[in-house]
Amino acid sequence: MKKYFVLLIVLYNFTFAQFTDINIVKEIHAQKKGLVVSAHPLASEAGAKFMKMGGNAYDAVIATQYALAVVYPQAGNIAGGGFLVGVKNNGEKFTIDFRETAPEKSSKDMYLDQKGNPNTDLSQNGRLAVGVPGSIAGFFATLKYAKLPMEKLIQPAIDLAEKGFSITQREANLLNSQMQNFSNHNKTRTVFQRSTPWKQGDLLIQKDLAETLKVIQKNGAKGFYEGKIAQLIVNEMKRGNGIITLNDLKNYKVVERKPLTFNYKGNEIVAMPLPSSGGILLAQMLQMSAFEKIEKYQQNSTGAVQVMVEAERRSFADRAEYMGDPDFINDKTQMLISEDYLKNRWKSYNNLKATPSSEVGKIIPQPKESTETTHISIIDKEGNAVAVTTTLNGLYGSKVVVTDGGFLLNNEMDDFSIKPGVPNMFGAVGGDANSIKPGKRMLSSMTPTIVMKNNKPFLIVGTPGGTTIPTSVYQAIVNILDFKLSPNMAVNLPKFHHQWLPESVMVEKNFPETTISDLQKMNYKIERVTQIGRTELILVDENGNAIAVADGRGDDSVAVE
Ligand code: GLY
Repeated sequence: MKKYFVLLIVLYNFTFAQFTDINIVKEIHAQKKGLVVSAHPLASEAGAKFMKMGGNAYDAVIATQYALAVVYPQAGNIAGGGFLVGVKNNGEKFTIDFRETAPEKSSKDMYLDQKGNPNTDLSQNGRLAVGVPGSIAGFFATLKYAKLPMEKLIQPAIDLAEKGFSITQREANLLNSQMQNFSNHNKTRTVFQRSTPWKQGDLLIQKDLAETLKVIQKNGAKGFYEGKIAQLIVNEMKRGNGIITLNDLKNYKVVERKPLTFNYKGNEIVAMPLPSSGGILLAQMLQMSAFEKIEKYQQNSTGAVQVMVEAERRSFADRAEYMGDPDFINDKTQMLISEDYLKNRWKSYNNLKATPSSEVGKIIPQPKESTETTHISIIDKEGNAVAVTTTLNGLYGSKVVVTDGGFLLNNEMDDFSIKPGVPNMFGAVGGDANSIKPGKRMLSSMTPTIVMKNNKPFLIVGTPGGTTIPTSVYQAIVNILDFKLSPNMAVNLPKFHHQWLPESVMVEKNFPETTISDLQKMNYKIERVTQIGRTELILVDENGNAIAVADGRGDDSVAVE
């Protein structure tokens, strides 16, 4: 008889209010059990519950995403978008692109003022910043891989919205920090606003959101994209400068894309293709650091960080020039990840000093991307794996809550280049690959990834963090495959990030000071930041023993079936 076991390594539990206990579990070891890692314990538990009831990883990911839309409103969502990478236990690999699209009435210069200057307030806040949402279409597209009906998978979210849940200290702080923004961007008072500050243990009840979820439960995806809820979204657009129409909503479609797959030291990496830049960046960075035999270094040593930063520099320069929605551009993926191209790219690497960013690409001003978003990693007992990263873009997206619908709208339009083709302060002209066009998907950094060993899922990994997403996933993979770190160390040791522009290298607190001073001597500019991303990772060894780790940087939590 097979032995099943579960070991909870680090668990801390805080219970407050009489309604919902919050148990944050940072690491679970299990064999032949389903595991869910997400940004919130109640969402992970909602997913795990369906695996106990006979569902698989795809049932769990749908339930977890609905629950995150309720308990993690800063990034969990029903009116944002995302990418899903799946590997079934029969070896089938697939992706679902439920990225938002630019509305019919959008145009290339819609965020430029009369002098041609970009107005980032308009692309980042309020109704004009909203892309046509993809999440609900994404959940329904996932259903064909699942076993249970949507009516059941959505129920935990309805219960959490209707009865409420106790918020954590982090959530209270975030909500308190956004009171002015909610009042600036909403005509009616939202559930997130109140006259006294939120505190840990307060109950957040979202009755309007519960009603919206019930409409979807009854009427399916059409319940969101047509009828009453679609009309509520359009009404909300009309309360300000929004342009999304009923037609935009009715015409939204997910795209099932062939995953971007490549070999890394005998492992097959299954990643997201364009319009996420994540998979291409990962392929480029891993191959370039392999040229320098990255495995001979120690994690976070000067040598390792220099090689990885220089790989990041060259990859992000390519991102700015070549990447966008593949249905609208000349897709250069195969060239960008080819060995010949990367060897040529790597010729300018100098192990004694930083390569100036101006030497690896024409300077194109890069928008500062939000670091919000959220990631879910899941394995089930049958060996099906799924990695999903989903987003509203900024913290609470556009900050606009649909009146009577109770859900937040994204501000994903800001992920387009809002001023392409215009000479910048250095006189260089930017590429057009990520410019706004009706129906186009904005370029993303989200990098949900599954690493296969011997044709079985070995790592399921991803993180939020805007442009820091691909570099965090890169570090997690190198930490495990090359530096042989444990999953916990791979996720929780201090990270770094570089993205070509700005020229600086971000380092997290507690980053080794000797590495910092060595890098400074080689002309690297260092920017100290509190934290980078929140990686959710599951490692499954050849015997089916799994270790799931939720990032220690937040309330992220693992649940087991
Ligand atoms: N909005 C974050 C991303 O798509 O990468």
